[in-house]
Amino acid sequence: MARRKTARDTIKDVADLAEYHETAACLDELIRKDGAGSWPPRANHEHSTWPAALRPYKEIYYEMAPLLPAAEVSLDDELNKQRIAQFRSRFDQLLRERVSLREVTQLLEAADAGRWDVFPRDVYNAFYSCIAWCRHAYRWGTIPAVKVAQLERTVSFPAQLTAPWASLQAHFGLTSDAGNMTANLVLNFCSSSGPGHEEEKYVYRINTGLPPEEGKRNAAPKSEEAFARVAREMERLAVPVYGDVVRAIVAFAQGDGAACLAHVRAVAAQLRPALGSYYERVHDGTIARAVWLSRVQGFYAWGLRSSQGCEKDAGSGDGECHETVDGLSGNQVLLFQVLDAFLGLEPYLPREVLERNVPRLQREFCAAVGRHAFRHRLGKEGVEGRIRDELAETVKRLRLFRSAHRSRAKVYLTVPAPERLPMTAGKSLLKADMEQSMQFLDQFMLGRLQQTV
Ligand code: HEM
Repeated sequence: MARRKTARDTIKDVADLAEYHETAACLDELIRKDGAGSWPPRANHEHSTWPAALRPYKEIYYEMAPLLPAAEVSLDDELNKQRIAQFRSRFDQLLRERVSLREVTQLLEAADAGRWDVFPRDVYNAFYSCIAWCRHAYRWGTIPAVKVAQLERTVSFPAQLTAPWASLQAHFGLTSDAGNMTANLVLNFCSSSGPGHEEEKYVYRINTGLPPEEGKRNAAPKSEEAFARVAREMERLAVPVYGDVVRAIVAFAQGDGAACLAHVRAVAAQLRPALGSYYERVHDGTIARAVWLSRVQGFYAWGLRSSQGCEKDAGSGDGECHETVDGLSGNQVLLFQVLDAFLGLEPYLPREVLERNVPRLQREFCAAVGRHAFRHRLGKEGVEGRIRDELAETVKRLRLFRSAHRSRAKVYLTVPAPERLPMTAGKSLLKADMEQSMQFLDQFMLGRLQQTV
């Protein structure tokens, strides 16, 4: 009986194809570099293996994380302001006392110079996730995110959180001040070395240190972890999909219709478990509706003015940028961008948003897939007709996801959260009331559903 291919087999196949086709070369580069040799990307969160200069960040995380969630949600602006100020002031103090920015900068410069022997890639990835957590925690100062923090347009971050972030973002080819799906979720797991992927440990937490009874009652810690696992698990189950997308393209380029058909069929088949990572978790039984909006989603939002210059508003009078930076959204998940490109659909996100939130090597892989997408070049007869039919199956599964996501998202977003103004992590502050905001958001999802043909 033929042995089922493992992710490792797929990664090796892709490496073998790299010199023959640019889609394979791009995927191989993504895995070797950003993935630290594997996919989902490896992240080494083992504290004792980190260079000494970086360890204080992790230690500070352990001290600050329990101070972030408020056991009781407060509607009192003054009290919330105080909470935020105290959190930030303690964070500032610890960073100033314990972090040597000079040594951290030296390490980051070593990585930029390709010295992965002094700063291994898997540690680099874990550090990226750590700084992303620190920045989001500092931005909000208390969880649930509250109105006074939502209304801030700028926040002055300590140098220990800005300089490394700028360097890490430049390395991954992103421009956002905010974190992203890769930094905050996909890399927020200790990579497992064996086949027991479900054992991967979730690391940087939002809802930690709550009194045990409170933690149990509001289900926030479990819901938060289950939500994070969707992104990690989806990337793991997407590896064979990426492999077959590449092999279908290569087979088509070689004129091997039968092989192309087999790989296209495999894409549709493997999509079922990959999307299952969403279907099985994104419901009230696993990610509790009662806590997700307040205690999970708020952390991943951003909603501050860009600290970078922005051309858009350059002529607005004061020469300042007024563009608001958004935080994380499922729209940054690689699998959907690859599928859209493979099916010959336009990218969902505009170029400037992609460049802000999606790592460069992920963008380049999708762009290469898009350049070689063949669905619209297929004839209707013979093997090409059959390939067409198989691709239609993938379109069908994607439409089903988009339709299900539209209703599930609404269920989560319409839970009352009186401590805050309507906001999503992916689109920042919205209209004054949730009903209008929901209409605005629904347009994005409906539009995408209608384009998925
Ligand atoms: C309950 C949690 C979630 C809610 C409330 C939610 C809500 C939304 C909203 C309002 C949009 C449209 C605006 C935008 O582009 O940001 C969106 C887009 C999107 N979301 Fe989510 N989302 C959730 C979780 C997820 C997860 C876990 C995934 C996949 C891992 C995901 C995948 C996507 C994708 C791919 C898009 C882009 C539109 C498309 O391709 O259909 N979302 N989501």
